[in-house]
Amino acid sequence: MGLVSLPNGMASPSFSACPFLSLQRSLSHSSPILSPQLQSQGFLEQDPLHRRDRIRRKVYRGGKRKGQVNFYWKSEVNDMEKKSRVLVIGATGRLGRHLAEASLRFSHPTFALVRDSSFSHPLKSQNLQSLSNAGATLLRGSLQDEASLIEALKQVDVVICAISPTQALDQKLLIRAIKQVGCIKRFIPSEFGLDPDKVQVSGMHYNFFSPKAEIRRLVEEQGIPYTFVSCNFFMSYLLPSLVQPGLTSPPRDQVTIFGHGNTKGVFVQEKDIASFTIRAVDDPRTLNKVLHLRPPGNVYSMNELVGIWETKIAKKLQKIYLSEQELLNRITETPYPENLDLIFIYSAFIKGDQTYFDVEASGGVEGTKLYPEVNYTTISEYLDTLL
Ligand SMILES: NC(=O)c1ccc[n+]([C@@H]2O[C@H](COP(=O)([O-])OP(=O)(O)OC[C@H]3O[C@@H](n4cnc5c(N)ncnc54)[C@H](OP(=O)(O)O)[C@@H]3O)[C@@H](O)[C@H]2O)c1
Repeated sequence: MGLVSLPNGMASPSFSACPFLSLQRSLSHSSPILSPQLQSQGFLEQDPLHRRDRIRRKVYRGGKRKGQVNFYWKSEVNDMEKKSRVLVIGATGRLGRHLAEASLRFSHPTFALVRDSSFSHPLKSQNLQSLSNAGATLLRGSLQDEASLIEALKQVDVVICAISPTQALDQKLLIRAIKQVGCIKRFIPSEFGLDPDKVQVSGMHYNFFSPKAEIRRLVEEQGIPYTFVSCNFFMSYLLPSLVQPGLTSPPRDQVTIFGHGNTKGVFVQEKDIASFTIRAVDDPRTLNKVLHLRPPGNVYSMNELVGIWETKIAKKLQKIYLSEQELLNRITETPYPENLDLIFIYSAFIKGDQTYFDVEASGGVEGTKLYPEVNYTTISEYLDTLL
């Protein structure tokens, strides 16, 4: 028997070796009739030659049907039928890749809008291949190409955008297209950082947050259903050096602590940000809300972070305290964009921009409270990988 491609990217040599063994009981149920929705996504009739419990789906690449066929368990297809169809814009990016993978992992029919250039990029094309193998439908297009946006939007219910922060305003055409097609049940614009309506460093962030806030206002004005995701820091940002700009690993002799070191910041691993985001897309509790991520075990002050690291390496570090004014001077003396790390440190660990406000009181929701079942990496677990 040939390999069975599963939506989560695993391949099983035979039915009996399939990791979804617990699903086998449900496979004896009568055959589902494929909805027009799934048929339009390329799902074909049951696999007539092999197992009646599998359903075939033609794989599309760049909008064109390709020879490859993926097989799905019937119950997986049933699952997909209930779940929103998700379009990820930016699936070749640092966060977007995880969003597309999480969407597939949670059984959403998953689409990615991909620029032409990515298909010829060695690494990006490899990632796209593996997304496609895992069941994603790749659509050629770009945020600048309105026709491609309309075409893609007509096929989905949910749009998640994960383009780089400097491109935030490039989402304006997308918002216009979403308004035009009128079928999008949820839009998650490219934010995935500190809450742009809450940061207290305006005037010193080189237009980093204001375009994201401008996009929020536009989405609200247009009456587009949304969820804004405020995940705070990615774990791969600043934490690998224990918040020591210029270092590539945590210090083992001396450490700089910014301010008094008691203000708490938040780090969340990209894969986990993606899981929480995908859990939110069909959830009425997150409709027109800000989804904040402050997972227990991931909210620490600099003093606490250093303490955790000292315990792990069984050594006390020499502490150098840099006052708020000294940090501000350093920010001014350092040219842009090299000073951005210092600005983010100032925002999180001096001003407390990630934790100074109460989530519920501000009308938001907190991801780990809504989805306690989502496993996530704690800071301590992450630091273990750096020992
Ligand atoms: N909280 C944190 O610590 C943190 C850290 C980093 C980023 N972020 C946030 O996360 C979000 C995503 O950032 P990222 O670093 O993951 O982005 P990224 O790695 O720069 O990826 C950008 C993605 O957008 C795609 N793209 C760019 N222009 C496009 C266009 N015109 N049409 C269609 N696709 C286009 C790119 O595709 P190509 O392959 O075609 O270039 C790529 O897939 C941003 O809002 C950023 O602020 C947060």
